Amino acid sequence: MQKFVVTGGVPLNGEVRIAGAKNAVLKMMAAAVLTDEPVILRNVPRISDVVILRELMADIGFAVRRVNGDELEIRAEEAPWPFVPLEAAMKMRASFILLGPMLARFGRVILPNPGGDRIGRRPVDYHVTAMEQLGATIAYRNGYYFASAPPDGLRGGHVEFPRVTVMGTENVILAAALARGTTVIDNAALEPEVDDLITLLGGMGARVSRTGHRRVEIEGVARLGGAEHRVLGDRLEAETFAIAAAITRGDVTLRGVDPAHLGSFLEVCDRTGVPYEADASDATLHVRCRDAEPLGPADVETQPYPGIATDYQAPLSVLLTQADGVSTIHETIFEDRLDYTRELAKMGASIELLDERRARITGPTPLHGAEVGIADLRAGATLVLAALIAAGTSVVSGIEHVDRGYEQIEAKLVALGAQINRIEA
Ligand code: UD1
Repeated sequence: MQKFVVTGGVPLNGEVRIAGAKNAVLKMMAAAVLTDEPVILRNVPRISDVVILRELMADIGFAVRRVNGDELEIRAEEAPWPFVPLEAAMKMRASFILLGPMLARFGRVILPNPGGDRIGRRPVDYHVTAMEQLGATIAYRNGYYFASAPPDGLRGGHVEFPRVTVMGTENVILAAALARGTTVIDNAALEPEVDDLITLLGGMGARVSRTGHRRVEIEGVARLGGAEHRVLGDRLEAETFAIAAAITRGDVTLRGVDPAHLGSFLEVCDRTGVPYEADASDATLHVRCRDAEPLGPADVETQPYPGIATDYQAPLSVLLTQADGVSTIHETIFEDRLDYTRELAKMGASIELLDERRARITGPTPLHGAEVGIADLRAGATLVLAALIAAGTSVVSGIEHVDRGYEQIEAKLVALGAQINRIEA
């Protein structure tokens, strides 16, 4: 097992290149299942979730290889073994994104009930019901979903999600791209990663468009072809580094992220007084907190995009520990996404759980080094952020979860001046 050893207190300075978005690339790899021609993805992040999905797709029988460093070439000619093993699904909930494309292209797949982050129950019932609306038959036995399409393939249908679901929206788009007839999705997700997936699918010959507020229409086609696509920048990684710059009172330029995707985050920066300059023309965000005034508190409530993302709720809490006054956090998307507060309290944060979904933070409080750890991607990054400003040395465990979604986080932080080492423990 590996750990990070971090000595806090160094302001971060310099430039950092933001990687391609985890939450886009995984769905794009799944989109490649829809064609027997090569799909080439660029700006693919070096994260372990990509490795897990690559191996999983190779087990099914697809050719997936990395070329030129940040490119992935996928060729899905046949699926001799249309089965997702429990081990892979336990590591990554996003493996369930193979349901739609496997059904659409090969007519069957067996998938386990997925695992992923340890944040609440995270059911997949919306995915299952939606596929049934497109004509699929899905039986659940002994922890596995056995899914099959009718002999003449999936058919278009109307799917209205009870609540907004990112991967549910994407799974239906992928399935419907090759279905007979037109599919309408209501209460669809608006995340920029969904739009980037739609752009890739358009390049493959699919007919997918947004035709109303939270409505997506897909006109199925008989066949899709190969395409080349550059994955958009990871707004969640960018937000993490922007917070790192702010809390360490640093001066950091983030390159490779579209500031238009950071709207709700930049609003929080405005409210708390984090100075920044966003430049959409060259995809940069410059956070300059060196001589900034004291930060102010904020009340934040997570919402589907374009609201405050649940994925940067935890990192934001570290900023709020340094704000002058009382802040509150309300997590509306997932249950159990406040477990990290216990670890932050060990480091000296004044953070109180009001109930399962609400926390109150009183600041500013100086943080101090501690041994902390948590089995969750964003909560793990949160502990690294806290360690960057904690007096003394912190040891952060559970970093294999951080590696799932952050490309070489410690190398990027070291390049900005941080004192952080990865050790074998
Ligand atoms: C995606 C992101 C994740 C992010 C989340 C919310 C990926 C790989 N992951 O996860 O980083 O935190 O969006 O922005 O893109 N739900 C059900 N039944 C379902 C599906 C969802 O009840 O079948 C519920 C969930 O428990 C949750 C809510 O719907 O309360 C939204 O979840 P969803 O948007 O589906 O999250 P993911 O797509 O899994």
